[in-house]
Amino acid sequence: MDDRPIGVFDSGVGGLTVVKELRTQLPHEDLIYFGDTARVPYGSKSVPVIRRFSLEITRFLESQRVKMVVVACNTASALALDFLRRQSSVPVIGVIDPGVRAALAHEQVRAVGVIGTQATIRSEAYQSRLLRLRADCQVVAKACPLLVPIVEENLVATPIATLALEMYLAELRDRRLDALILACTHYPLLKEAIAAFLGTGVTLIDSAEETAREVTEVLQARRITGPADRPGTEEFYVSDSPEAFMRVGEPFLGRPMRQVFVEHVWKRDLGLGPDATPL
Ligand code: DGL
Repeated sequence: MDDRPIGVFDSGVGGLTVVKELRTQLPHEDLIYFGDTARVPYGSKSVPVIRRFSLEITRFLESQRVKMVVVACNTASALALDFLRRQSSVPVIGVIDPGVRAALAHEQVRAVGVIGTQATIRSEAYQSRLLRLRADCQVVAKACPLLVPIVEENLVATPIATLALEMYLAELRDRRLDALILACTHYPLLKEAIAAFLGTGVTLIDSAEETAREVTEVLQARRITGPADRPGTEEFYVSDSPEAFMRVGEPFLGRPMRQVFVEHVWKRDLGLGPDATPL
């Protein structure tokens, strides 16, 4: 048994979809979340920058004595996971392998779509893993950069979202996909709209659920599950306004965040505030 918390991070609020699933599947584990709200989005940034930010956050979580780091951000998972694994002494879990396994869960799956940020799609992390596991599978990948701001601005149920989905997904609808991986933290909030657009027959893969399952397996395999005699706690850290994080984050977490502890670590722990060494 191991009562240390699990660390989870994302470029912003999106990783709260993973926290929500972790809470459902692991009700007794303590969770520490870091949302890099000051530096979001990662999806349009370069590889060295994404790696550097991801490592800084991993170091911060390690300073909080976490027993595992969950990279809830698809972009950071695509570009920094192996790098972080080499740098960290605790297990580091990403969202890509769980999503790929879920997409290929059925033997008959042959055509898989992947949608994500520019950086995720450009990295080919999903495409290469899918082809490694199923060589004869057809993979169609599409970057959908406008979907993140549409979700963050709460425009999911508006004609703007409908137009964006039409623009990005029309070519995928014509490809008769068996499964579509929602390879971005924000897309689960568009799941209904995407399902309605693509019609029946396409299984939508939400990596959050699968990632929580993998975290459970790793905890059990390494015998580091937490005590089961009390509800798990949650601490939320951000690199910019806690108020904005709470407001935008609620739909991702699926419940109000009034009770949660939000701390501003911009100066103290990332060393990026006005009193610290500038970047
Ligand atoms: N969290 C990012 C991801 O899942 C989306 C937002 C961003 O671009 O930082 O890829």
